[in-house]
Amino acid sequence: MLKNKPKTKILVDGGDPSETFRVKTLIGFVDGQTTNPSLVAKNPEIQRLVASGHRLSSQEERNEYRKIVQSISPLVGDAGVSIEVFADLGTRAEEMLAQGQEMFAWIPNAYIKYPCTHEGLRAAQMSVQKSIRVNMTLCFSQEQAAAVYAATKGAREPVYVSPFVGRLDDRGENGMDLVRNIKAMYARGDGHVHVLAASIRSVNHLLCSFALSAELATVPATVLDEWAATGFPMPDQDFRYRGLDAAGKVLKALAYKELDLNLPWESFDIAHELTTKGIQKFVADYQSTLKRSA
Ligand code: E4P
Repeated sequence: MLKNKPKTKILVDGGDPSETFRVKTLIGFVDGQTTNPSLVAKNPEIQRLVASGHRLSSQEERNEYRKIVQSISPLVGDAGVSIEVFADLGTRAEEMLAQGQEMFAWIPNAYIKYPCTHEGLRAAQMSVQKSIRVNMTLCFSQEQAAAVYAATKGAREPVYVSPFVGRLDDRGENGMDLVRNIKAMYARGDGHVHVLAASIRSVNHLLCSFALSAELATVPATVLDEWAATGFPMPDQDFRYRGLDAAGKVLKALAYKELDLNLPWESFDIAHELTTKGIQKFVADYQSTLKRSA
């Protein structure tokens, strides 16, 4: 079991309550959990239903998702359980908000995940005005993080922004640089947005998240298993993150940009190809469990 809890809160990135329970036993605590449509589609109960030939209706899928987060909710600490709305590229903010309001009532410690798109940001802006906690997902740029900050100013509870480290690495860009740049940019802000390092693929990503003082990191159970198996190493003063891809090639550094957090959120250029691709993948994984007409 881990003796000294890191300052960075540790969340399990998954969709299976028994896995969360196992990690909690292994580490001694779990601060929170993130889920998404792809992870929920992989939940063993949903997989069993699909394998037996039973495709779900949208309502059944939502009921399964609710049961999953209701089982996870009491297992985790104050970082809560992030629940993602079902949104495709055409979903309007009002529809995301309606889903978010329903999901927020499922458990007492919910965070609602909206994508870092124009409509997702509008939904987040309306949500924080209604005291719905939000986690802005599929963040791939400093501009998106600046827009999250500006759109949610005045939130009474911490807002999360989730830079996707691993998916940037996958295309040769140093995802940890995005975490570093957002942290540096927010250092000039009021602290209402917390950085949640996501799409973590390795213990090295986790240690770098600690070293960069990310407020939170969401980590697959397999990576937490590896961290535990190696005796829960922590980064020391000399920790140097080596941004390398799987083949050992140096990842492209992401330069810091001077952005003014006081500008209106609509003024930031938030388009990012990986956000679009991420939404399309979530939709495909979600639909893979559904009846054709659902
Ligand atoms: C968590 O909120 C994210 O959905 C998750 O970390 C994405 O990870 P992936 O890039 O491995 O799918």
